[in-house]
Amino acid sequence: MKMDLETLILPAGQAASEAAARTLAAGGLVAFPTETVYGLGADAANATAIAHLYAAKGRPAFNPLIAHVADLAAARRIGRFDARALKLAEAFWPGPLTLVVPKTEGCPVAELATAGLDTVAIRIPAHPVAQAILRAFGGAVVAPSANISGHVSPTLAAHVESDLSGRIDLIVDGGPVEVGVESTIIGCFEAPMLLRPGGLSRERIEAVLGVPLARPPADESDDSQPLAPGMLASHYAPRACVRLNARDVSPGEALLAFGPARLPGLEAAAAVMNLSRAGDLDEAAANLFGYLRTLDAKGPRAIAVMAIPEEGLGEAINDRLRRAAVAR
Ligand code: TXA
Ligand code: MG
Repeated sequence: MKMDLETLILPAGQAASEAAARTLAAGGLVAFPTETVYGLGADAANATAIAHLYAAKGRPAFNPLIAHVADLAAARRIGRFDARALKLAEAFWPGPLTLVVPKTEGCPVAELATAGLDTVAIRIPAHPVAQAILRAFGGAVVAPSANISGHVSPTLAAHVESDLSGRIDLIVDGGPVEVGVESTIIGCFEAPMLLRPGGLSRERIEAVLGVPLARPPADESDDSQPLAPGMLASHYAPRACVRLNARDVSPGEALLAFGPARLPGLEAAAAVMNLSRAGDLDEAAANLFGYLRTLDAKGPRAIAVMAIPEEGLGEAINDRLRRAAVAR
């Protein structure tokens, strides 16, 4: 594909939504804000557009995409919802939840986007700009995070621009996102399964289901047959090494802090950012990817990260940090 596109950046609004819909209909690639992270959208029914999307991201083509739709009626044209899936959809959509369900007969999502699986991942985003674009376009839009494959996900239009400028047609700038980590993915199988922790906490989902969520059986570090095939061990990677559960700071390291930060060596840190001084996990999730980018840009020897509690959105934050810490 052409990698020297003129990438247009428009502030969110009616004109931008209409331009986005026209661009999608013409097979183009549009980055837009959702409440979790910025997505890079293509017409879910257009295999050529999806091929361009994979190329623009440098994404392995075995990695399937999430189909975004405006409402439950549109979701049910794509996927089959049993009682439990419906219960989750009704409780949490629109919102930061993706459901993996069996495809309908005649599912309009291109095979290329589902990587040949007989299931499809579906999400109804809550962000008003995403909603406006989906309604203006009318069809389903597949959208991975709008970053080069393996990079930290974008939470600002400027992050999208720095990764994908010249590779995509349009960026709709809706300001900073609210949640800051990707959607939680639930596989609506026999036993509902947490395929990816994300912007909706396990606790809230289990409270609605009334049963604990199963974990994927495969060893998480085994990338050969992951259940959510995009969950490769090394992902969300900044350039600098990431050191987890830091209790001190070595000279030249940057510190990604959480809560009160009085660590030995702090005064020699290359840079310090605090995900949430108050220890609020939702605030920490919203800051995570942007702070990783900012610290990384300072070129530290490594990024030391303080321990984050494994509860609420802490499960998703720790999941992303572990992937960022995998040596490459
Ligand atoms: O918050 C989000 O989910 C963002 C915004 C843009 O909506 N999107 C996002 O997409 O994170 P992406 O492509 O980065 O992640 C999609 C994940 C991958 O891990 C992929 O393997 C998984 O969804 N997935 C897609 N279809 C699947 C399926 N049929 N079965 C299991 N996992 C699936
Ligand atoms: Mg991604």
